[in-house]
Amino acid sequence: MSSTAAGAERVVSGMRPTGPLHLGHYHGVLKNWLRLQHEFDCFFFIADWHALTTHYEQPEDISELALNMAVEWLAVGIDPKQSHLFIQSQVPEHAELHLLLSMITPLSWLERVPTYKDQQEKLRHLDLSTYGFLGYPLLQSADILIYRGTRVPVGEDQVAHVEITREIARRFNHLFGRGADFEARAEEAVRRLGRKQARLYQQLRRRYQEEGDQQALEVAQAMLEEHGSLSLGDRERLVGYLEGVGRQILAEPEAQLTPQARLPGLDGQKMSKSYGNTISLREPLEEVTRKLRTMPTDPARVRRSDPGEPERCPVWQLHRVYSNEEVQRWAAQGCRSAGIGCLDCKQPVIDAVAAELTPIQARIREYDADPDMVRSILSEGRERAVDLARDTLAQVRDAMGLDYR
Ligand code: TRP
Ligand code: SF4
Repeated sequence: MSSTAAGAERVVSGMRPTGPLHLGHYHGVLKNWLRLQHEFDCFFFIADWHALTTHYEQPEDISELALNMAVEWLAVGIDPKQSHLFIQSQVPEHAELHLLLSMITPLSWLERVPTYKDQQEKLRHLDLSTYGFLGYPLLQSADILIYRGTRVPVGEDQVAHVEITREIARRFNHLFGRGADFEARAEEAVRRLGRKQARLYQQLRRRYQEEGDQQALEVAQAMLEEHGSLSLGDRERLVGYLEGVGRQILAEPEAQLTPQARLPGLDGQKMSKSYGNTISLREPLEEVTRKLRTMPTDPARVRRSDPGEPERCPVWQLHRVYSNEEVQRWAAQGCRSAGIGCLDCKQPVIDAVAAELTPIQARIREYDADPDMVRSILSEGRERAVDLARDTLAQVRDAMGLDYR
């Protein structure tokens, strides 16, 4: 078992502000965020530094894109009362952690992250042979580790980045979690538990380490978790000492993939800006209608009287997301028997997308009209983020010998 700080689960995720969010983001990552914010302490940030790694030649857009993105998050229901929303570059602690982690990160780890070469090849029009771009996954690791994030809700394309984050946390803990004075400091922490609790802790620790008594481990973990006055450092030391693993300063996160099927784009491929097949959250409804009406269908249905096959049609994939069983049955039957035309078939999807977007767009208009409110939400989120980031960073500095108090 890995020992995260006080066993607390924390969700961390970010998005690069590179353009308006679309329905693919909404049905993919954002719905996942919406669900998680009810269950966990969540940190969601706008990864403006990550946007600069690729778009450093057009920096003038970034702050506007960032603010628009915050508006879109709020409009879909990310709730600043439940989640902490902020801008990455406003918590410069991420950058210091990135620097410190860079000291222990083998170059080969970064070079072999699959997105490194893929993106360089895909984005040939950009010069990505930069130091910053190579460090992209490490900056992301710092983003996650600084909040001791345990769950990272992202799309599949980001799993490799969460994986390298785990490796870096492990390497860090291995190098610095068991300093020469670890045992002595753990013993001091035991004494700070108070006499009765200290005796109990030692008993339980012995039962676990000498006899493999799993229950003793759990009782001791619960006791540490419930202890009211332990500092974070002491708690981690005591958990590490108990488990015999040294101090887990950085928590190993896990990727949390969206359970839902991904929303296809207008051409049936994954919805993505680079394929030009998106419906943005800000798309005027007439434009939504136009895009859906002109969307390709089963190529076998050249004429209205030709029967079609839904499995070969991208509109059908939208029905699977937006329509109930009855409508799906109607569409599939009508398609196969040429009983309905493609425009008939598309109408319920058009209506459903419009119904989904209407309230979101109303809220987008409200937040767009009140940028001060959005800024103040981001600055509140930032404050909470900074508190936690400083705390982690202090421990990291300490562990790396940068302790000048
Ligand atoms: N790289 C992520 C993306 O492109 C954005 C990101 C930056 C991120 N830092 C993060 C996601 C930390 C999760 C956690 O989508
Ligand atoms: Fe696609 Fe519907 Fe046309 Fe069939 S009827 S080809 S499912 S749009």
